[in-house]
Amino acid sequence: MAESRQVNDLISIERQGDIALICIDNPPVNATGQQVREGLQKAVEQLNAEGGAKVIAIYAAGRTFVAGADIKEFGKPPQPPALPDVFNIIEDSEIPVTSVMHGTALGGGFELGLATHARIGIEGLRVGLPEINLGLLPGAGGTQRVPRLAGIPMALDMALSGRMVPAQEALEKGLIDRLEAGDPRDVAIAAAQDVLDGKLQTRRTCDLDTPKDDAALEETATMLRKKQPHMFSPHKIVEAVRASYLPRTEGMAIERQAFVDSMDTPQRAGMIHAFFGERAVSGIPEAKGDTRPLDRIGVIGGGTMGSGIATSCLLAGIPVTLVEVAQDGLDRGVATITKNIDGAVSRGKLAADKRDAVLGMLTPTLAMEELARVDLVIEAVFEKMDVKRDIFGKLDGICKQGAVLASNTSYLDINEIAACTSRPQDVLGLHFFSPAHVMRLLEIVQGEKTAADVLATGFALAKKLKKVGVLAQVCDGFIGNRILAHYSKAASYLVLDGASPQQVDDALEGFGFAMGPHKVGDLAGLDIGWMTRKRKADTRDPNERYAGDVADRICENGWFGRKTGKGYYVYEGGAPVPNPEVATIIDTVRTEKGITPREFTDQEIIDRYMTAMISEAARVVEDGTAKRPVDVDMVFLFGYGFPRFRGGPLHYADTIGAAELVERIKTYAKEDPHYWQVPPILEKMAQDGTKFADLN
Ligand code: CAA
Repeated sequence: MAESRQVNDLISIERQGDIALICIDNPPVNATGQQVREGLQKAVEQLNAEGGAKVIAIYAAGRTFVAGADIKEFGKPPQPPALPDVFNIIEDSEIPVTSVMHGTALGGGFELGLATHARIGIEGLRVGLPEINLGLLPGAGGTQRVPRLAGIPMALDMALSGRMVPAQEALEKGLIDRLEAGDPRDVAIAAAQDVLDGKLQTRRTCDLDTPKDDAALEETATMLRKKQPHMFSPHKIVEAVRASYLPRTEGMAIERQAFVDSMDTPQRAGMIHAFFGERAVSGIPEAKGDTRPLDRIGVIGGGTMGSGIATSCLLAGIPVTLVEVAQDGLDRGVATITKNIDGAVSRGKLAADKRDAVLGMLTPTLAMEELARVDLVIEAVFEKMDVKRDIFGKLDGICKQGAVLASNTSYLDINEIAACTSRPQDVLGLHFFSPAHVMRLLEIVQGEKTAADVLATGFALAKKLKKVGVLAQVCDGFIGNRILAHYSKAASYLVLDGASPQQVDDALEGFGFAMGPHKVGDLAGLDIGWMTRKRKADTRDPNERYAGDVADRICENGWFGRKTGKGYYVYEGGAPVPNPEVATIIDTVRTEKGITPREFTDQEIIDRYMTAMISEAARVVEDGTAKRPVDVDMVFLFGYGFPRFRGGPLHYADTIGAAELVERIKTYAKEDPHYWQVPPILEKMAQDGTKFADLN
């Protein structure tokens, strides 16, 4: 006789003869919050105490198995029972326990499966230990049970990469015992019956010994010391995995301590801010509501940006009409897109057998009239207002009513562009970041007249392209490039006043940036900044200290960075080495300007650079260019290589505090009162003790 009962609101038990099913039902992702932990513990304890059931099968309701610990609880006082204790109770259960996992079994969710005595995956399942992306490590037995089942290299790989492992691989590695199709509850009943019939073996994972592999542990520890010296949790992961040689109690205690220590770090707080921030940027009313169709997209311009945008749309399954003015430009665009798609195949982002179908969705043309059939056009041509005005005037005559007209401009006035059409309500900015098929940021720029459904369509496009769409208002450079334009001057001033470009780069790489600003300049092409400085030369504020002397002279030599083999660094194969001729240029400029160079510590470099970034970021929030501090943070994480573990410039600002930042600006202002000005918002925050987090 079947009978069901709730253990609590989220956990239920269903009895079918000798079989007991435990169902977890905690939408949206069945995270193991306090009630789930308590319910699971009670369910297993009750079933063992009652007797009767001969096998237990755990499954979850809804779209996925368990997505891990409830991240919202992190940073708050822990509420018992602790997850590892619950899982040990499950592992120690006298009655054998199986689990049936569907969707994604991540972190504590996968660790729940590992603690059961047999694991069934439903087709399409992916398992993973993504805690590293939150500045943590698997804290509920993952570092102890994965090595026992699949060996140390696999445990290190999973815990250090955080990657999602497809079901087939999980099966081959022994992380799951079977892969089946069907509804989780049906599969759970069948699996339990198989246990009863002796067709599915059960065993306790912690009864197994981890196969010894000291070499893998040593090699990884050495690599991490070299490559990630400033990170906390990766090193702890190696320690915890090593502890899986020990009996469960000792190994779990080491893992637990490492988890608790990681929880206490600012890195954990930064990365969890990033996790929720990524989701919060589209949680605003502007991103919601009715949207317009996105069945076919037009891209104007087959250069690097246009081709990248087209690639991104094609990879998302959206057919693209690519328009160029001349055949050779069109051919180059198609060649770039083909190369991008082939790259996606070789990186495993696209199945090889889908390549031709994806490329088949591309319609290259010289006829702009072809854009009559698209739902949304993205213009990605040369950054000149005259050219854009001309294009948008033509689009107005060609595009169907209701089509969305977007410009990929990185700084021009969207309102001026919209005014060239009879339908400014249909116009917005969609600012992609290069390479557009890789970088996840999309600034969605709202013009004065942009209609609500057009803006929401921008967010819908971001979602389809798996990008992080951030709302920005019109200004020179929008959120990201405007802030960049300001703080990059701080790097130039540091070089003028005594630091070398390499010292600045090294200091900021030590802070966590993947590349320092001079290496980034060399990569992007120094000619870009040179052109911008020339464009702005006439309108430059005469009171502002000019920051471009050194870079201008480098460019005058025809050294534009990597693409010309020389910039701040020399590129001759191998690692870049500082360009000795740049040192001469710097000396000359200093002499001409009467600057006596002085020493800067790495910390001073970081402080000045970050304070400059935070100052402009604060102004961007203050004047409403960005809606909230979290929007600025996500722009920097997803578009500018800002270290994720620092959460973004304004999250980082909160760790320093407004009072200290104001103090710093006032000190620096003694040298250059024009550049270093305290944003009023920061002054106010310093006075009333508020944080940027309070404004989110
Ligand atoms: N805790 C709390 N909330 C969570 C959550 C979690 N573990 N995972 C997802 N959510 C929330 C999201 O914030 C989102 O909330 P809103 O709708 O309010 O924005 C909602 O659930 C849906 O999430 P997504 O929008 O991300 O949905 P998706 O379908 O695109 O992705 C997912 C689903 C793959 C599970 C993804 O949410 C994800 O990667 N989650 C995090 C998984 C993770 O990092 N787990 C490890 C946790 S740490 C841990 O478990 C430690 C340990 O060892 C004990």
